[in-house]
Amino acid sequence: MRRVAWFVSLLVLVLAGGTIVIAQDGGQGAPGLGDPFYDGLGNGGYDTLHYTIDLAIEVDTNAISGTTTIEAQATQTLTSFNLDFHGLEISDIAVDDVSADFSRDDFELTITPVAPIEEGVTFVTVVTYSGIPTPYPDPSVDGFPIGWLRFGGTIFVMSEPGGAMSWFPNNNHPSDKATYTFEITVPEPYVVAATGLPVDEIDNGDTRTFVSEMNDPMASYLASISVGDFVRMDETGPDGLLIRNYFPTDQAEELTDAFSPTGEMITVFSDLFGPYPFEVYGAVVVTIPFGGALENQTLSIFGTDAVDEYTIAHELSHQWFGDSVSPATWDDIWLNEGFATYAEALWAEYLDGATGLTDYMDELYEYMVEEELGPPGVPDSSDLFNGSVYLRGGWTLHALRLEVGDEAFFEILCTYYERFQYANASTDDFIAVAEEISEEDLSDFFQMWLYDEEVPEMTE
Ligand code: TRP
Ligand code: ZN
Repeated sequence: MRRVAWFVSLLVLVLAGGTIVIAQDGGQGAPGLGDPFYDGLGNGGYDTLHYTIDLAIEVDTNAISGTTTIEAQATQTLTSFNLDFHGLEISDIAVDDVSADFSRDDFELTITPVAPIEEGVTFVTVVTYSGIPTPYPDPSVDGFPIGWLRFGGTIFVMSEPGGAMSWFPNNNHPSDKATYTFEITVPEPYVVAATGLPVDEIDNGDTRTFVSEMNDPMASYLASISVGDFVRMDETGPDGLLIRNYFPTDQAEELTDAFSPTGEMITVFSDLFGPYPFEVYGAVVVTIPFGGALENQTLSIFGTDAVDEYTIAHELSHQWFGDSVSPATWDDIWLNEGFATYAEALWAEYLDGATGLTDYMDELYEYMVEEELGPPGVPDSSDLFNGSVYLRGGWTLHALRLEVGDEAFFEILCTYYERFQYANASTDDFIAVAEEISEEDLSDFFQMWLYDEEVPEMTE
């Protein structure tokens, strides 16, 4: 045994030595970031700064064509680098205005520029492509392909976790955030709802180009557009925040009503967590009963059958937890879903006081016990969004509040948000903040709630 181990470690040393030499000479950017669940997602060797997604969409055929321009900075000298891109046809790739070689293997797109890119240098890649996007069969959700979707004349994008590469080439991991420009051209009379601040609408005759800017860092899975027969309804939220909602024209009135608590929710969550992170918010409702909603950055998307007050609160709260503070890796998903579930209960508390909160949490507890929900800190990579990360994740926060008291608890939330906003956090980062603020050793507490199989006793 010992002999084998010695042999293996020697081999590792030799390989590691080889890698170091290659890195010094410049080399290939890694084709994945080693996410514990989806190790091929994302790429190493560079840091994206800005994406410009410029696409024309033929709504009737679902065909797209255009370019994605990526400004990035090399974090090592690169002889080649990868983007993640699923399907579609690439006609040209240019790096700093010079045509580059490329090859494709599944969703890995490897680009070899004419000359190596020096470490530290900012470079611009333009990918020209076309075709009919096909949703990505994501291993995290069995049988529910995600990304670019089209149903009944409406096109919409829901990408969490891996679907962003179904419509634009990108560094497909939440740890590499960037700002974005969307320039989306569609035939009249269709309307584009895009993440970011709408800045322009250009009339080209038969088509219109909708331009929007995402000026804050965004993970690629939160970039989204929807195309349909929408009416845009604007409201002014707290502190003059623009709330722009896109509703199917024939349901505009009832949906305006359903989403009317949004402004008040923003005020409530800003008071509890810290200022709303972005320069615009709103919802887009697509006339498909897909049974859910998704927290795209600044523009949550809802299926028609998912429009209820608690889902509206859930998706809004993700703007703080999920979008502004994003998971370091996908196994930290309870930091998104547990927080958003607990935010629903905080909204119930705001409406109905202590009973509102306990009723909400009691119901979740019963379900959690009935379903024997496993540990949210150890999610299932083939069923990432299962009940555990939502309900037991939410209960982890409630139990923490009962453990450390209201004052310390909300200070923990605010500190965590302030420290990791526009960036990423891991479960250990959250635990460290909780221990720092409460001045308690919480290792047994988090072990029990996040990692032990058994559902912990209710602590009330
Ligand atoms: N994050 C979503 C929520 O708020 C759930 C979700 C994850 C989702 N991936 C999705 C919804 C893809 C629709 C499509 O709970
Ligand atoms: Zn959620």
